[in-house]
Amino acid sequence: MSEASPNDPIRKVCVIGAGTMGAGIAAQVANAGVPVLLLDIVRDPANRNAVAQGALDRLAKAEPAAFMSKRAAKLVEVGNIEDDLPRVAECDWVIEAIVERLDLKHALYEKLEGVRRPGTAVSSNTSTIPLEQLIAGRGEGFARDFLITHFFNPPRYMRLLEVVAGPASDAALVAKVSDFADRALGKTVVRAKDTPGFLANRVGTFWIQQAINAAIDLGLSVEEADAVVGKPMGVPKTGVFGLVDLVGIDLMPHLKASLTATLPEDDAYRAIAIDHPLIMKMIADGYTGRKGKGGFYRLNREAGKRKE
Ligand code: NAI
Repeated sequence: MSEASPNDPIRKVCVIGAGTMGAGIAAQVANAGVPVLLLDIVRDPANRNAVAQGALDRLAKAEPAAFMSKRAAKLVEVGNIEDDLPRVAECDWVIEAIVERLDLKHALYEKLEGVRRPGTAVSSNTSTIPLEQLIAGRGEGFARDFLITHFFNPPRYMRLLEVVAGPASDAALVAKVSDFADRALGKTVVRAKDTPGFLANRVGTFWIQQAINAAIDLGLSVEEADAVVGKPMGVPKTGVFGLVDLVGIDLMPHLKASLTATLPEDDAYRAIAIDHPLIMKMIADGYTGRKGKGGFYRLNREAGKRKE
């Protein structure tokens, strides 16, 4: 297979994982006029692209709008990893945005190694998993082409992009992806070190925890807790709980598991309880936030209705 060069422009992107983030990232790449292949797993053998297609259908109706135009929406092509993974060879950048689990990401990277053109940038949208762990077990070529590009939710509107490169990452490839993110995707690229949770999640999870503590320990409603923590912490529109609804409540225990696996024994993060039993029950019952039956705010409205 021919080798891609860091000088090749980014003409086509593959996004793997069509969930909250992958779908939104695909839309923003399409907004830049660049074709995207959006892949997810096969859940229904009779309708093999149903997961990615469902994500695309939801994107078309997303509020605030994910696509800038109908023309942009047409640039996203859906598929599934069982049938279409070899098509990453058509792409200049592969963005992995599957669930925050190291074992699943490793399994996917192993499959990718056999099909991608060497020299193609591969990046993970992980929130917390260190790059060193992501590339463990992979060859030198993979480590050279790999970086972390951590987008924020919603990807069209959040300007920050954390970029993490490893000691083996090809500087020219990292520069190419960062430049594309800046010029084409409108991102402010911040280079972070390969530390657990990088910059934003290492810090951000503490104020999420403050909001949860305030609500549970002080018996406050989510609105009251958000009045204390939301605006003062710079989250005026959604408040902290609204932000967690948007991010996906089911991501919270994954964040904690992955951070506690890498942080020292005495790190203050270990006291954080974003896997509180109440949160685990909400996830088990399907209240995973906007993408599920609802979240903190929807539950609250239902509670309000019951009182009437
Ligand atoms: P999600 O749970 O909404 O979506 C994950 C998608 O990946 C699902 O559609 C699932 O079917 C698919 N998937 C699972 N295994 C797969 C595989 N082997 N191959 C292809 N697709 C597979 O997850 P979300 O929230 O979009 O998170 C994705 C990544 O982005 C995670 O690493 C997360 O930590 C990170 N992230 C999430 C943010 C958020 O606000 N939700 C913000 C920034 C980063």
